[in-house]
Order: sequence, then structure tokens, then C-alpha cells
Amino acid sequence: MKIGNIELDGAVVLAPMAGITDPPFRRIVLTFGISCLWTEMISCNAVVHARKILATMDTREHTVPVIFQIIGKDPEIMAECAMIVQDHGAAAVDINMGCPARQVIGSGGGVALMRNLELAGRIIGSVRKAITIPLTVKMRTGWDEKSVNAPELALIAEHEGADAIVLHARSRCAGHCGPVSLDLLKLVKSTVSIPVIGNGGVIAVEDALNMVMETGCDGIMIGKGALGRPWFPRKILETLFGWVVTSYQSNRSLGVVVSRHFEDELRWCGVRPGLHRMRKHLGWYSKGIDGAAEFRSRVFTEENPEMVLAFIDNFFGKVMIP
Ligand SMILES: Cc1cc2nc3c(=O)[nH]c(=O)nc-3n(C[C@H](O)[C@H](O)[C@H](O)COP(=O)(O)O)c2cc1C
Repeated sequence: MKIGNIELDGAVVLAPMAGITDPPFRRIVLTFGISCLWTEMISCNAVVHARKILATMDTREHTVPVIFQIIGKDPEIMAECAMIVQDHGAAAVDINMGCPARQVIGSGGGVALMRNLELAGRIIGSVRKAITIPLTVKMRTGWDEKSVNAPELALIAEHEGADAIVLHARSRCAGHCGPVSLDLLKLVKSTVSIPVIGNGGVIAVEDALNMVMETGCDGIMIGKGALGRPWFPRKILETLFGWVVTSYQSNRSLGVVVSRHFEDELRWCGVRPGLHRMRKHLGWYSKGIDGAAEFRSRVFTEENPEMVLAFIDNFFGKVMIP
């Protein structure tokens, strides 16, 4: 798949997930393989007004394109933010028009823009003019089931110069769970000529196959399916894009993967914050493994990183990644 002038190897990408897709998580997904990575959403006000370079903008050791997602509602500030992230190594800029968080909607950004298509169009146009790298727009099906307008917004985005659309095929009121609308994804795909990446509910390789076959979408974005399973996008790449199966599965114990992820978190954001950030990942990694409840109750209260590493080694050491 091509996004503007960026040629991707395959078309399976990691979703932006605030508080989750930080550089260490992106790097652990990368060790297995992925076509392209997204940052967590970056507030344009934080970058432009507070002059903050956010930690998530660190792209060291990222060997595939990283798309920086920005969020806000002011066309000029969004354009300025886009220029800043372009200077900080973004391969492309993505505009968030899908976030349903109350605080984000309250300030007029995220999915609130799907209720104001005129402003949405001005933001896309303004960002387009400010940068030379490709531009994508991530949206939902609409505000709610009664106001489904993703095809209209996708057309506006294409007209204003976007290079690809990401459709999270749920409405704002569906949140992050529940059924996705493949019909809507198919409709958006047939409405625009730029690539359309489908997103939502892909937790098994069959879901990805089904999404592509039912809708003709050009790429697949994986969110929750990669939590505790950073190898999952690669499995789709093997099935859908013919990536060869390598020894990554048979040779690697889950203990090696989890301790590498943990050590990277500590290095990246410091011992205490890294330890706390890692807890949710340990919960996901341990899901479904015998003794997980006991492991969690011990590791979630442990503040000594050496002890946590020992727990990780002991608990995951003999588990092979599937
Ligand atoms: C904890 C969490 C944080 C998220 N943060 C973002 C974000 O920063 N930007 C964004 O566009 N979507 C965000 N999303 C939505 C995901 O990118 C994705 O669209 C959604 O999870 C549906 O895909 P899935 O069913 O594969 O998880 C977030 C989702 C979750 C669960």
C-alpha cells in the first residue's frame, strides 16, 4: 500500500492508542514486523502553545514509517503543529477526527469535528498546505447511528488533499468495542480514490481476511488485538501479504519478549513511571495463562524493578509465543 509517496511493505498498521503506543510498545511490535506505526494522539495545543516536544515523538530505532497523529480544532494551530511534527521525523501526519473522550469533544476536537464538516474541511486544507509529507485522516462512521457521515467526510478529506483515510468502523456512541460496520467501510472505500485503511474489531487473522474480502479496503489497522500480542500484526502480514514465517515464533519465549519490553520502558521514561506504565501490559501479556491472577497480584504491588524482572522471568520464561 502507498500513502502518498510512502511505499509500505504490506498494509498492516498499528493503531494510535493513547497511553499505550509509546516508543517501547512500538519497538516491541516492530521486532515482529509491521508495515507502519502510529504515535499516540498529540495535542496541538501542547505542542504549539506549551512548546512541548512530547516523549511519544521519539522515533529512535523505528525502522518503518511513523505517522504522527495530531488532535485539535483550530486550523492554524493544527497547521503549525503539523509543521513541528514534520520537523521531528514524522513520515506523515494523521488528523484525529475520531476520539470520543469527553474532554476532547468538549474542546471541539476529535469526533466532534464529524458534526462540523465545514471546519473539518478547513483543518484538513490548512494542514495540507503547511506540510510536504503525506496526510491522513482518521474518522469514525459518524457521531451516532442516526448521523452516519463518514463517506461525506472522506470525500471532503480527499478533496482537501488527504492521501489516505483510516475508518474506525464504529460510531462515536459505540466507543471502542462492539460490532463494526463493514458495509460503511465498503461504502467509504467505493466513495474515494485514495487508500482506505479499515479499523475495528480485528482480533483474529480471519477478522482481517473478512474485512478485506467484504470491503476491498487497502489496509488493516490493529488496535486492541495487539495488546499483550505484539506478534499479532505479523500473523496477518504472513497470511495476507505472504511475509515468510521465520523462527521468531518457535525460538522465542514470552519471557524474553516481556522483559525486553519492560527494560525498554524503564530506559525510555525512568524506573518508577516505566514500572507503572508496564503494569497494564503485564495484565494483557498474562491473560489466559495459568496462575495469571496470582502473578498480577504480586507484580502489580512490586516497586523494585529487579523483583519485577524476576517475576516476569519466572512466570513467562517457559511460555512460548503462539
Ligand atoms: C486505550 C485506547 C486509546 C486510544 N487512543 C487513540 C488515539 O490516541 N487516537 C486515535 O485515533 N484512536 C485511539 N484509540 C482508538 C484506536 O486507535 C482504534 O481506533 C480502536 O481501538 C478500534 O480498533 P480495535 O478494535 O482494533 O481496537 C484508542 C483506543 C484505545 C482502546
